[in-house]
Amino acid sequence: MRRSLVAGNWKMHGSLQGVSALVAGLKGLDGAVGVDVVVIPTLVHLPGVAEALAATSLMVGAQTCAPVAGEKALTGEVSSTQLAEFGCRYVLVGHSERRALLGEDDAVVAKKFAAIQEGGMIPVLCVGETREEREAERTLDVVGGQLKAVIDAVGVAAFAKAVVAYEPVWAIGTGLTATPEQAQEIHAAIRALVREADAGVAEGLQLLYGGSVKAANAAELFGMPDIDGGLVGGASLNAEEFSAICRAAGRG
Ligand code: 13P
Repeated sequence: MRRSLVAGNWKMHGSLQGVSALVAGLKGLDGAVGVDVVVIPTLVHLPGVAEALAATSLMVGAQTCAPVAGEKALTGEVSSTQLAEFGCRYVLVGHSERRALLGEDDAVVAKKFAAIQEGGMIPVLCVGETREEREAERTLDVVGGQLKAVIDAVGVAAFAKAVVAYEPVWAIGTGLTATPEQAQEIHAAIRALVREADAGVAEGLQLLYGGSVKAANAAELFGMPDIDGGLVGGASLNAEEFSAICRAAGRG
């Protein structure tokens, strides 16, 4: 049985004071049954959050990292190796905001995916279609293409230590959530695509849904057979709401 996982992507939100209040509000999730919980603050907040949560079961992740591990002359970047030293366990890669606004293409995404694993952390590969692509019935092409680009670059075996998040772009921050059936359809297709390359890896792969997840829709989404948890944006900035979402994912 795959474990449930819920990750809160704080994006470029939070002040020192706000982040410390949010972290304090999350302590009640320590030891939550049947679900792994990860919070993903900005890079500047990450060390403080990691320290504050060090004695709890909550884990910390990063929203991005450099496309190469180790140290080198690469102004403005932070490597996976450096993140790992701060107790970072997961790193998002391929988020649609970075693909659309910062020009990250499949080649960069694949390099970052490999660099994250080289640093000993788990990449959370984000894939998803825009509204136009869905309306043109290209969802499976787009999502499958984003996934295949990384499988082709790093090999399917690398997905034994990775997570995939399906985040339809039209559902992010819009209040429009994919229905559990719509999300399940794409999750099943993603797993089938991985299964074609390696059945064992496909079976163990955690698939998260992201896009306007909230306490009110979480249980229904997480109840679908191929939805193993969530990647939560806006609702993860509210400790009470995020805690309720995590509890909805607990299966233990
Ligand atoms: P929202 O939950 O705010 O829609 O954001 C989803 C997301 O982009 C998480 O990575």
